[in-house]
Amino acid sequence: MNSRNGHACVKGADGVRTDMPLDIDPGVFEPSPEPEIPPGIDVEAEIRRLKRERNAVILAHYYQAPEIQDMADFVGDSLDLSRKAAATDADVIAFCGVRFMAEVAKILSPTKTVVLPDERAGCSLEISCPPDEFAAFRRAHPDHLAITYINCSAAVKAESDIIVTSSNAEHIIRQIPEEQPILFAPDRHLGAFLSRRTGRDMLLWPGVCIVHERFSAREIAKLKAHHPDAPVAAHPECPDAVLALADHVGSTSSILQFATAHPARTIIVATEPHIIHQMRKRCPDKTFIGAPGADGNCNCNMCPFMAMNSLEKLYVALRDLRPRIAVDEKTRLRALRPLERMLEMSPKTVGAGDLSMIGERVAATGGR
Ligand code: 13P
Ligand code: SF4
Repeated sequence: MNSRNGHACVKGADGVRTDMPLDIDPGVFEPSPEPEIPPGIDVEAEIRRLKRERNAVILAHYYQAPEIQDMADFVGDSLDLSRKAAATDADVIAFCGVRFMAEVAKILSPTKTVVLPDERAGCSLEISCPPDEFAAFRRAHPDHLAITYINCSAAVKAESDIIVTSSNAEHIIRQIPEEQPILFAPDRHLGAFLSRRTGRDMLLWPGVCIVHERFSAREIAKLKAHHPDAPVAAHPECPDAVLALADHVGSTSSILQFATAHPARTIIVATEPHIIHQMRKRCPDKTFIGAPGADGNCNCNMCPFMAMNSLEKLYVALRDLRPRIAVDEKTRLRALRPLERMLEMSPKTVGAGDLSMIGERVAATGGR
């Protein structure tokens, strides 16, 4: 038994603690108000004009609304977007995703102006891992290497040894010597999945993604019964019972690649449903079914944080260069090291890794 902030931290048979409820202040789900756009403004045309004027690049995650994905120069998963942010020669990065992603862009490209259309766009995994508690957890396990999922704050990255994404986590963990104890935070389901895949006994932080946590194995089993030839692709943030029903488990990029390449005409998708926009663009003849949550309703699987961004907020962000991401220099330098280790340790990961070619194709066809 380990202890974290006064709570019992029980390592079960699969290494996962299951007893910690995530107390989220309902206020964090409140988006910033929609901006008032003067009448007569063509928001999409203005975004294109401002992008040229400011030498800006628009990066978007697959969970963004279709109209934002279609406005982006590049659409990708967390790893793809980190690499793009590190490599771009733009002066401004308009990051259409959530705060931790925009922070990574700022950490990797400190001289650039990074804007996030809605500064309130957080992530339940970030919320579930307060930096001071994580630092205390680390201090309690000084012999453990802290491998930390990129879905966390800059301050938690600064306390970590290596950052990973769902694309490269397995690849990176396999490079760590067997005898080295590992602590993995903050996603307990991804951690448990990696532990099973690699055979490594890892100490897991009990955070969850409130979106993926809601997928229901019972509802997916019902769907499979109706569509017996449809494979299931799932994100590793889903609970174990859901992953047990999946034909493919991987990052958003790898789910997209699987759905595109698989010969089946119908695919069941157990991740945030906005990714289906890219699937339909690539394979208009296929049917993609978003897996429902426990109440049989797909809508509860939309990420409330990703949904805070809008084209109007993107326009204002490019116009005013706000909300602007800032990371204090001391934290940035400490967070940079584990991020650089990630990039060094996963240079050629593909599929469960670098699908930037797919991202490039989106940029080529994505309505710049
Ligand atoms: P990916 O790195 O697979 O895009 O996942 C990001 C995320 O937030 C999943 O919930
Ligand atoms: Fe965070 Fe989950 Fe939303 Fe991804 S889907 S940004 S992990 S809350």
